[in-house]
Amino acid sequence: MAIGQASTFSEIPLSVPLFQGNEWKYLKECLDAGWVSSAGSFVDRFEREITSAVEAPYAVATVNGTAALHIALKTTGLEPEEEVLVSDLTFIAPVNAIRYCGAHPVLVDSDPSSWQMDTERLEQFLQEGCVFKEGKLFNRKTLRRVRTILPVHILGLTCEIDRIAALASQFRLSVVEDAAEALGVRYQDRHVGTFGDVGVLSFNGNKVVTAGGGGMLVTRHKELARCARYLTTQAKDDDFESIHHEIGYNYRLTNLQAALGVAQLEQLPAFLVKKRWIAQSYADRLKDLEGLTLMPVPSHTEPTFWLYTVLLPEGTALSQRNRILMGMREQGIGARPLWHPIHGQPPYQKCEVLGGEIATDLYHRGISLPSSVGLSEEELTRCVEVFRQEFRVSG
Ligand SMILES: Cc1ncc(COP(=O)(O)O)c(C=O)c1O
Repeated sequence: MAIGQASTFSEIPLSVPLFQGNEWKYLKECLDAGWVSSAGSFVDRFEREITSAVEAPYAVATVNGTAALHIALKTTGLEPEEEVLVSDLTFIAPVNAIRYCGAHPVLVDSDPSSWQMDTERLEQFLQEGCVFKEGKLFNRKTLRRVRTILPVHILGLTCEIDRIAALASQFRLSVVEDAAEALGVRYQDRHVGTFGDVGVLSFNGNKVVTAGGGGMLVTRHKELARCARYLTTQAKDDDFESIHHEIGYNYRLTNLQAALGVAQLEQLPAFLVKKRWIAQSYADRLKDLEGLTLMPVPSHTEPTFWLYTVLLPEGTALSQRNRILMGMREQGIGARPLWHPIHGQPPYQKCEVLGGEIATDLYHRGISLPSSVGLSEEELTRCVEVFRQEFRVSG
């Protein structure tokens, strides 16, 4: 079995949902009432409950997080041929969303201690690589307008979002926070996704809370929320005549998905306790392995450790990492490498990249371990045993 072909159906998967609450009850309510599509009370209820979970006044539900990112960028005014500063080490969705707008990503390397967007490098680029002309910021090299910062809070940790928001305000940029992996994560006692102009959550099947598929935009700005709701519902201006003054999208979440999401969200506090227990248990049982780096906790952060991830010792070859991963997968453990940095992905190899070496190093050494909210103590023990055994063999 080659690394790219490894089965998704591991005995102990990487991250799968747990349905032990009102999921069946709420789905049945939708079916009994006949409200299965985008109209229906669960969609509004899911939005309301997200606003209180993240403490943002407005939330707009979408079919998935990628659609929410697309709309978030549009509502903050991003135009074709403008540029967006985005994390280099991330799942690809936010970078694709930039291209859906016809704009260009500028990839920002990771901070080696937090693994998130490197704020120093971001600041250096804004100070030295850009220039203001008539109140607008331009990239000196490409001559394109720089419009937005899109930091991605990866793995249930946080970027230095207060500093990023301050830089955005100094350089007159908007901020779209990708908090797809960060439901429940707080920075300086405030939920991530609420520091920028718009934040985005995902309810994909592998997230802490799932709606099967689903996303949410959260914002403090009434007008942005109105615009997002308009664009995600085909930009309909007149219900009776079906008049559309703009090109909209069919991005609204369905009632069935929202029903699942509401039931899952009720269990969020318990899920977060479990996530933190999983992280602490891995940390306690792996901390003695020489050269292994445990998952960091960035300062001022209350993390959720969405996927508990460790770094193999410095200088580990890719082949060695793959041997460990394959060894684990052959024994039924669904461990996974970190994402390939965006600067090496075929559609993005020509993008401007600020650094990239740290993201590459993290990719070479990172292994995410099974972290499902339903993971039992016995399963965790098995994951630890198999990881330790493969680590020793490879060392
Ligand atoms: C960082 C990040 N952004 C965006 C997304 C996209 O969300 P969705 O899968 O709901 O489209 C994901 C993953 O699902 C993600 O991990």
